[in-house]
Amino acid sequence: MLGGGGFLGHHLVQGLLEHGGFSVVAVDRCVSRLVPCQQRWGDNGNLQVIESSIADLATVETLVEHSDVVLSLTALCNPALYNTQPVEVIRANYGDLAPLVDLCAQRRRWLVHFSTCEVYGKPELQHVAADVLQEDSSPLVLGPLHRERWTYACAKQLLERLIWACGAHHGLPFTIIRPFNVIGPQMDYLPGVDGEGTPRVLACFMRALLADEPLPLVDGGRRRRSFVEVGDFVEAVIRVLSRPEVCQGEVINLGNPRNDVAIADLAEAMRRTYAARGGSHGAGVRSVSSEQFYGKGYDDVDVRLPDVTKARRLLGWEPTTTLEEMLPRIIDDYVQRYGDRVKGPA
Ligand code: UGA
Repeated sequence: MLGGGGFLGHHLVQGLLEHGGFSVVAVDRCVSRLVPCQQRWGDNGNLQVIESSIADLATVETLVEHSDVVLSLTALCNPALYNTQPVEVIRANYGDLAPLVDLCAQRRRWLVHFSTCEVYGKPELQHVAADVLQEDSSPLVLGPLHRERWTYACAKQLLERLIWACGAHHGLPFTIIRPFNVIGPQMDYLPGVDGEGTPRVLACFMRALLADEPLPLVDGGRRRRSFVEVGDFVEAVIRVLSRPEVCQGEVINLGNPRNDVAIADLAEAMRRTYAARGGSHGAGVRSVSSEQFYGKGYDDVDVRLPDVTKARRLLGWEPTTTLEEMLPRIIDDYVQRYGDRVKGPA
């Protein structure tokens, strides 16, 4: 598992080992999230943690050689980077990974690649209804070059196309997973505490709550996202790995269309849940323009709803966790890890 120390990676490591029947080699440049897994499973031989980068091709080659399945999770995936560090974003999401695809094709290893719902881009540009983001029929619609937001989606899409081509023409067994806004404990980082810059919306809101600052609503928080809980997501991936006969050669959306919410309503739900668990009622919300918040070249998609018919059919999977169920656990985790490390408003 390349990128096994990240948000999705470490939840997957834990899920696979709890499920049983898997032996995991988790590789990442930063492995701190994996320490509890190492403590629990490090000695039984089913987990090996390697601190390394995918740029170390010799290590990657040896690992691919000795694995049945290669899960590829490394990415630069914070929207704040897409227009501020676009070259790094393109390299990390395409250039660094193209050699891995070739390697898996040469060795005929099953590559399970974690792509993104962002490849669907901005369907409203072509008047495509956002509730039919379907793996095998929806167009992938990106904005013009000066809208650098789309560097990520474009790099991810090109990698998907390389994987597909290697599958169709060079015998690569593959599965492409498109996650739709997975959230859960230990996501991203908190700016000023264990990272810098702007993380994704959940961590931005958590930092504001803990600091007793207004939650920043980009363009008033009118955009919508459908959030899937990380436990539901992990369950689906375990089913993918257990069903190669139906999942190889497929692109699969993993998300929860029932948890579709406007970002302003997510902010309210988080404020309510935080207060109900003993936190302050907070300093409210503030609206900020996307250009002020993310800088020039940012763009956004209004609505993003997965069609999960294929996941249901292939995996017998149904995401069940509601926002009301997941938020208390996520908020408790942030409070426990960061509560005393976030300073109040200046
Ligand atoms: C994310 C990222 O591109 C990827 O991590 C990933 O592929 C995908 O979507 C996903 O998580 O599956 P996005 O949905 O825009 O993109 O992620 P966020 O940064 O969490 O933003 C969600 C919405 O909240 C956006 O409209 C953003 O403008 C807004 N936002 C963000 C706020 O209103 N306030 C904030 O403080 C931060």
